[in-house]
Amino acid sequence: MEGTRITVFDTTLRDGEQSPGCSMNVHEKVRLARQLDQLGVDVIEAGFPIASDGDFGAVQAIAAAVPRPIIAGLARAAHHDIERAAKALQSAIRPRIHVFLATSDIHLQHKLRISRQQCLEQAATSVRLARTFCDDVEFSPEDATRTDPEFLFQVLDAVIEAGATTLNIPDTVGYTVPAEFGDLIRNIRERVRGIERATISTHCHNDLGLAVANSLAAVANGARQVECTINGIGERAGNASLEEIVMALRVRADKYPYYTAIATEHLYPTSQMLEEITGIAVQPNKAVIGRNAFAHEAGIHQDGMLKNRLTYEIMTPQSVGVPDSKLVLGKHSGRHALSLRCEQLGYHFERRELDDIYRRFVVLADEIKHVHDHHLLELIRESDGESHRIPPSRVPAERAEAVAAGAEEARRLFPAGVPSEFSAVSLPANAVPDHHSEQEDYLWGV
Ligand code: KIV
Ligand code: ZN
Repeated sequence: MEGTRITVFDTTLRDGEQSPGCSMNVHEKVRLARQLDQLGVDVIEAGFPIASDGDFGAVQAIAAAVPRPIIAGLARAAHHDIERAAKALQSAIRPRIHVFLATSDIHLQHKLRISRQQCLEQAATSVRLARTFCDDVEFSPEDATRTDPEFLFQVLDAVIEAGATTLNIPDTVGYTVPAEFGDLIRNIRERVRGIERATISTHCHNDLGLAVANSLAAVANGARQVECTINGIGERAGNASLEEIVMALRVRADKYPYYTAIATEHLYPTSQMLEEITGIAVQPNKAVIGRNAFAHEAGIHQDGMLKNRLTYEIMTPQSVGVPDSKLVLGKHSGRHALSLRCEQLGYHFERRELDDIYRRFVVLADEIKHVHDHHLLELIRESDGESHRIPPSRVPAERAEAVAAGAEEARRLFPAGVPSEFSAVSLPANAVPDHHSEQEDYLWGV
């Protein structure tokens, strides 16, 4: 791997779990932590031990069950919290105590009701205490992006002096924008005393939909750890999504010369596991792991995909663990995909006949939205389908399997038909359109 290594700190089990409807029991947390281990995350924030006995037990159980990654436990900048976190982490091979204290005037005046001076002292004292339990201590100045930068630098100076090894800069309320956040990280790197002894980390929330963009800006300006969650779950609009950050770094390595240890083919299975455990569905158009992330319905796109996948895909579905791309048949689909699906179901039509099926298909798709194979088979039957069945001897060797499977499906569904999945075309490995000129295909595809 070329470039600089970025540490991936997963907080699905802590910040992610704080989002409505996402709470998990100990058994579920351990199951997900094992999956995060397989995925290759460097740090698992397993919980907030002072928050409840359940959280304490989950951190303890994960520390015992998952030996490879660093296991972090969150603590407010308070004696009892830090002791409790240290206790929960006792059996971790690589424990980390993560101490946080708000530093913005809004939080100091209205929430904590302490002065800047008290904040400075409390932050340093807490980090010093945490270091008596553990060599690996992370400090987060909560609401850093709305903190007076000069005061923020003072706090960071003080906690490094007290022994913090990671300085995490949270955009707690998702307020910052990429250029501003990048500047802040660069200024921290240039202005904070002793910063070379610590790792700068980023922790972005998604209130303006900028969490991933802000995290990437931070990396470009010197952050070497990103905090994120699977499926982007987290407080309010969520945290920066792990899968999006990792794939942005990977796909655009030309712009971001950094790499992570994430085994990207486990991204989709991990996302699915979280969805199954929490019952919170991923939005279909979610980048990288959403149901539609590799689905194409528009005719022009389908035609392009059938000629070369590079036309409309910037990464392969397999690289993130999605089995394959899908060409979904709907009212925007074109003849090219329809013709291929007919062939996969075992029927071949000449162009004029296919035009007729296509016209009826579009009318139907407009009415019912989701076209299933049994609908398509019905249209085929109305077009004297039996006389168009592809005889096994005429099926090219490379398509034999697909056609056999299609014919089997046809036998199963036709004529009664049971609605199952939407009708979707499986993409042939080497799609070679067998009609007319390239440009005509493009127009025909619509
Ligand atoms: O968003 C935030 O500020 C946090 C801290 C505890 C790191 O989650
Ligand atoms: Zn947070």
